[in-house]
Order: sequence, then C-alpha cells, then structure tokens
Amino acid sequence: MQRNETVVHNITLLAIETSCDDTSASVIKNGKVLSNVVSSQLIHTKYGGVVPELASRAHQKNIVHVVDLALKQAKTYISNIDVIGYTSGPGLLGSLLVGSSFAKGLSVSLKKPIVSVNHLEAHVLAPLIENQKIEFPYICLLVSGGHTQIIIVKSYSEFEIIGKTIDDAAGEAFDKTAKILGLPYPGGPLIDKYSKNGNANAYKFAIGNVPGLDFSFSGFKTSVLYFINKQAKLNATFVEQNLSDICSSIQHTIVNYLITKLQKSVNKTGINKVTIAGGVAANSLLRKELAKKAETENWEIYIPSFEYCTDNAAMIAFAAYNKFLNGITSDLEEVPFANYYKK
Ligand code: KG4
Ligand code: ZN
Repeated sequence: MQRNETVVHNITLLAIETSCDDTSASVIKNGKVLSNVVSSQLIHTKYGGVVPELASRAHQKNIVHVVDLALKQAKTYISNIDVIGYTSGPGLLGSLLVGSSFAKGLSVSLKKPIVSVNHLEAHVLAPLIENQKIEFPYICLLVSGGHTQIIIVKSYSEFEIIGKTIDDAAGEAFDKTAKILGLPYPGGPLIDKYSKNGNANAYKFAIGNVPGLDFSFSGFKTSVLYFINKQAKLNATFVEQNLSDICSSIQHTIVNYLITKLQKSVNKTGINKVTIAGGVAANSLLRKELAKKAETENWEIYIPSFEYCTDNAAMIAFAAYNKFLNGITSDLEEVPFANYYKK
C-alpha cells in the first residue's frame, strides 16, 4: 500500500526530538529533509550511562540553539513553519517534557497545528525517508539502547510486534559488555571500531536460548563477565592484549543472533522486505550481514543512512508529516509517556 498521492500538499514542518540524551530538531518540506541537527550530550560519558536529571537539564540548555540551527540550515524562518511535530514518548519523562513543552509553546505562539509522534514508530518508518517507494508490509528490526523488537510495518499507522527482548536491549548488550572491557559509554560504536581487525571466532559466548522470535541478552552479558573475570585473574593485561578479538567475538555473537531471528521472521511471515532501525542499525557487521542476505536469500533490504538510524528529529518530522497528511493532529493537553504500552 502506498500513501494517497492525490493529496495536494505544500507543507514545511519543524520537529523536535528529546526522548533520551540527544537534543534534535529537523525541518522537512513536503517530506524532504532540509535539515537534521543532533546535539549529543557528552556529559553522560563519565557516568557510564544516561543520567535522566542531567539529560533534561542539558535539553533545556541546548534546545533553542538546536532549533535555531535547524531553521538556518534549512534556509527558512520560524514564520514559514506550517506544522510542529514532537516526540511524545516513550522515553525519559523529564527529557520528553522539555521537547513537548517547547513544541507546544511554538504551536500556541505561531497558531500552527501540532502532531505528537511515538518515538518507536518514527524509528521503524525511518527507512522510508530515503526510500518512500518501499511497499508495505515490511519487516523492521528495531535495535536501540532501549528496545529490541521485530515489527511488521503494515502501513504508516499499523505496526505488529512479532518479537521482542525479554530483558536487555541489543544496544545494552553492546554497552554493558563494553563497560566490562573498561570502555566508556556508549560502548556499541567502540566495539564496532575495535572489531575491525579482530578474529570473530576467537572466543565463544553463550547467548539467550529463547524460543520463537523473542530475544534475551542478560545471560550473554553474564557469560562475557565471567569469562573476562576468569582470564583477568590469570593475566592482568588480558583485555588490553586481546581487545580486537574480544570485541569482534562479542559483535559476531550479537549480530549472528539478530540475523538468525530475522531469518526466522522472514520464514514465518513470508515477507522478504527487511529494514533495520535504531542506534544498533549503525553497526557495520549487521549492515554487512544484511547485505549478504540480499544476495543469498533474495531479501529486499533497505538500510537507512547512519543519521536516520540513531536518535534524530528527521524521523519524527517524517512520521508527523505523514500523520498530518492523513488528517491527524494532536491536542495541547496530551502528556508525554515513558513506556511504550502506556500510549
Ligand atoms: O537509537 P539510539 O540512538 O538511542 C536509543 O536508545 O533510543 O541507540 C543508541 C544505542 C546505544 O546502545 C549504542 O551503543 C548503539 O545504539 N550503537 C551501536 C553502534 N552505534 C550506536 N551499537 C553497535 N554498533 C554501532 N556502530
Ligand atoms: Zn531511539
């Protein structure tokens, strides 16, 4: 199913995303991205994870500048904005409040409609930003720091979750094992980087034996922890000496697990259009293994650019734009929500 192309539209939309630790603003015109500014908060690095109170304070500090920059890069002015979009959840409540309050303030002062967007729905629609011709339904593997789900995307507004993690998210599996190795937060990109020259089969780690399409990562984390502790007792510089091989083995185990579950999803649903979304979709091995599936299994794969994988306001703008085209706007009384199921 494709969007109704008969709708006449000429809409400039500004969207704001502040669900976690990235302050982001984007301007899109008729579905085309004109700017996508992301300011990542470095303050959390030294704490080994996102500190909610610090995140909301940093959003407050950054948001005016980020929105201003998004307008400048789009070569437009706030007075030209027709619609405001914002992330209403799921996410950190304090962080969401900053973005939603800012968006609502703009909507009131500009007298323009406002559209709230579910962060996860925006992630799974993100592959369409660069490829609006992808036909529904498609399978999306959503892998981020907070979520791991396999979703059938049936339309711009219909999503069926067919697999999910029962404990940690895939991004957490990367970040927590990286922490065990003494790497700073977020460890996912670093494991990816150090894996480049490593042997993926150097070490074997057990990973969640969960039936069907669900995932479990907590046992994997423990398996890495026990192995590293044991080796470090025998050789204090074990991690340092074998960092590439350890990272490569961790990355290989996680990616292999994700790909195996994706293969099961394709077999079960008969849908061979596959996309990935969320921060872990930036992982180079995951992208490579998916490309292989296109060759060997004839999957139709759509891999978004890095900037649309990690948290960004362009995906919020794109989702808001499509809701707006379908006549959906939001109420100023709508409150942000922390969890997916509390929509
Ligand atoms: O979607 P995202 O930016 O934020 C949310 O969690 O919503 O995802 C962040 C996650 C972090 O866990 C980070 O370590 C992971 O994505 N990540 C990666 C890579 N780049 C980001 N994990 C593995 N390889 C990467 N290249
Ligand atoms: Zn996200």
